[in-house]
Amino acid sequence: MLYSRITGTGSHLPEKMLTNFDLEKMVDTTDEWIRTRTGIERRHIAADGETTVDLAEHAARRAIEAAGLKPEDIDFIAFGTTTPDLVFPNCGTLLQQRLGCRGAPAFSLETACAGFMYALSIADKYVRCGDSKRALVVGAETLSRITDWTDRSTAILFADGAGALVLEPAAQAGILSTHLHSDGFYKDLLYCGSGVSKGFGTSRPLMSISMVGSEVFKVAVTTLGKAVDETLTVNQLGREHIDWLVPHQANIRIIHAMAKKLELPLERVVVTVQDHGNTSAASVPLALDVAIRDGRIKRGDLLLLEAFGGGFTWGSALVRY
Ligand code: ACO
Repeated sequence: MLYSRITGTGSHLPEKMLTNFDLEKMVDTTDEWIRTRTGIERRHIAADGETTVDLAEHAARRAIEAAGLKPEDIDFIAFGTTTPDLVFPNCGTLLQQRLGCRGAPAFSLETACAGFMYALSIADKYVRCGDSKRALVVGAETLSRITDWTDRSTAILFADGAGALVLEPAAQAGILSTHLHSDGFYKDLLYCGSGVSKGFGTSRPLMSISMVGSEVFKVAVTTLGKAVDETLTVNQLGREHIDWLVPHQANIRIIHAMAKKLELPLERVVVTVQDHGNTSAASVPLALDVAIRDGRIKRGDLLLLEAFGGGFTWGSALVRY
């Protein structure tokens, strides 16, 4: 039995920071409201001209370095993003050009906040079947570009950043299972405006996130709860076996609900939402990299990763790190 194992992680955040107090000056909101309802205190925003692939390149180089590899060693790139630099070529190939790993299959996929989980699941299968020996998995976003900064219900949530990891084959356990799901019947609860084939229209802003937050919240909590159950059942494990929950960083109340479901003390949950906001596909690999680099997550720990986003799309992974 061959597994794919995480051999390196990396992340990157834009330099510019936007605090809740900055937002108070932009929309009718307060630091207190944002912190209480979401847990967010600050978030990073890309500079003018700074793109998703710019952020991803920093994160990818750090992950590759941590794995002890060179960029040209990468033989597979799976890139989750909802905010690509171009319609095409895809962000995977744009990143590949910068890394110099010519010829490797490279693609991006768009499953909103679950983008990284989808990319991870696909890369895991490529490594396990022997078709990839050094796969790069990336989640990166510049959500600030599709945020309506006059809409207080969404402007307080979204942010920019990138996370990446390298997968290599291992005889000992690495990724134990991944689980992906979607339900397009919820498409109207969370979406981003116009797309290419619908035409861009004349209204401004051209593309911004629309969300029925309270409904998304309810479905996210119940759906992620089922995803956790599914992951444990498939692996014939109990909640007590989990060392770390690395959840999508959308809202501290959703994270707390998942910790409660797993009966995990909050010290065993990686929380970065206060500093990063919701970075969509970047949020799980960003949180993972933070907790690995600060020494909380150690080799041998059992990790449960999960994310939920527009579509709806969701996914989970059980990882022996
Ligand atoms: N500041 C002050 N008041 C506000 C703000 C704000 N920024 N935003 C909304 N309000 C007001 C509303 O107008 C409403 O006022 P009313 O009672 O007078 O009508 C009140 O606060 C409550 O609004 P709700 O929308 O019901 O607030 P809720 O507690 O649901 O919190 C939030 C909103 C934070 C958006 C929450 O619903 C949430 O986090 N939802 C889930 C988001 C998520 O997980 N998204 C999935 C991933 S994102 C992706 O895929 C791209």
